Parts: sequence; C-alpha cells; structure tokens
Amino acid sequence: MATETEVIPEILAQFDQTRSSLIPILQEIQNQYRYLPQAMLRQVAQKLDVPLPEVYHVATFYNCFSLEPVGRNLVQVCLGTACHVRGAPKVLDRLLTDLKLPAPGTTPDMEFTVRTVRCVGCCGLAPVVRVNDSTHPNMSQAKVKGMLKKYYSKPAAQ
Ligand code: FES
Repeated sequence: MATETEVIPEILAQFDQTRSSLIPILQEIQNQYRYLPQAMLRQVAQKLDVPLPEVYHVATFYNCFSLEPVGRNLVQVCLGTACHVRGAPKVLDRLLTDLKLPAPGTTPDMEFTVRTVRCVGCCGLAPVVRVNDSTHPNMSQAKVKGMLKKYYSKPAAQ
C-alpha cells in the first residue's frame, strides 16, 4: 500500500482527472485508508486542479468521510429523538465506559471509533447502534458488552 504522503496512482488511474471525479476519488481513498490523510487531500486538489478549501469542504460535508484515522470498527450511537427518549444516552455511557473512552472518539488500539449520530432512519427499533454496516436494534446497557465482543479482534480484556 502506498504511504500516506502519496496518492495511490491506481486510484487516480480509475477516474478522469477532472473536478467531477473528486467525490469518487475521496470515497476510494476513504475505503482503502479508512480516513482521508491530509497529504492525499493536497495531492488530489493539485491533480484535479480544484482549490484545496473546496476539497476540504467536500471532505467535511459528507458523514462518510473522516479526516481522522478511524478504528477497525465504526460504532455509531443514534441520539436522535426516538433513540434519546428510549435510553440511547445510557447506552452511550456504557459503551464509553466499556471502551475506556472519556468521550466519543477512537480507542488507543484502533479497534473502535465511537461517534454519535442523529437518526439513522429506523426509529421503530430505537435505541439503535450501528456497527460498521450492521444495525443493532433495541439496545440497552446490558447488550453493550456482548455487542462489542462480536467485533473485538483480540481476546477481551477483563
Ligand atoms: S432517532 Fe434513532 S433511528 Fe431515528
């Protein structure tokens, strides 16, 4: 894999070197690196002849992009109204406690990134937590440990 200071030539080769390729190229970088390294954003801006602030605008506008390294598992806790009234804040508290995180963010071992989101579109299943592409419905504090175990790649620390 190319280093973070060089845009992978194969990625650029898949797309026209035009402004309309900006989002698909960023999506491909995000897919491969799980975030958008700053050095790559600069190079994409240069290659596509798009002002760097515009590249950053796109990179920060869409939720699917991250400017920070993301853990192996992305945990999204819905704090929309339906989830909030059905206990999502308590689920979030338990998640952060179990992962020893002071606030939403990434664990030092890069296993998990926790984020809060507003409504993931399945309010009838509230409270909802999404992990990567899976939806965990009717979450509770009691279900958090079991859910995390499914995704943790190392033996659980006691
Ligand atoms: S408020 Fe959580 S899914 Fe809609």
